[in-house]
Amino acid sequence: MTRLGILLSGRGSNFQAIHRAIDRGNLSAKIACVISNIPDAPGLVYANEQGLPVFALDSKGIQRADFDRQVIAILEQSRVDLVCLAGYMRLLSKEFISAYAGRILNIHPSLLPSFPGLHAQQQAFEHGVKITGCTVHYVDEGLDTGSILAQTAVEVLAEDTEESLGARILEQEHRLYPKTIQAVISRTAWTKRSKSGSSL
Ligand code: GRF
Repeated sequence: MTRLGILLSGRGSNFQAIHRAIDRGNLSAKIACVISNIPDAPGLVYANEQGLPVFALDSKGIQRADFDRQVIAILEQSRVDLVCLAGYMRLLSKEFISAYAGRILNIHPSLLPSFPGLHAQQQAFEHGVKITGCTVHYVDEGLDTGSILAQTAVEVLAEDTEESLGARILEQEHRLYPKTIQAVISRTAWTKRSKSGSSL
């Protein structure tokens, strides 16, 4: 069973969507740990209610590389295979990226490479684009620059406000992220099987 490490900083609705997908049997993985760099992130309440291993750290005033070393230690101790950023509001250090090379995913609320960074929904709304959406991508050292795994388009309606648009994008994020994690897991499992000589 693939072991997921969830990293979040806030609300945690994507994390909940991943957890629910596992519960419903739509995602064959186990959440090995939930780590937050904000000790009182609302997403941790749900994690605690679900009895998941929670690690509430405080990144304030700590150098990026030093903080990331703490996170890597938890991921290693939790035997995490795949790291899923779910509203994690920090860039990752070189050390982190190379420790989990090709095994870190993120979800972003726009059709990358458009509108990277903060307030992507607001950026899309203000630019007057007619189609936006969400993207799941691999994470590299840049800001939302890693290679793209999957996207869902969301139409911007004439009557949309920034809030209504953001809500419709979020709904799609909750579908796309678990589905893409499952696809990555299946592909990895397939690679492992083919390496071991199975005919599957
Ligand atoms: C989502 O919009 C996600 O795409 C972005 O941060 C937000 C996190 O929301 N990376 P939540 O904490 O998952 O509710």
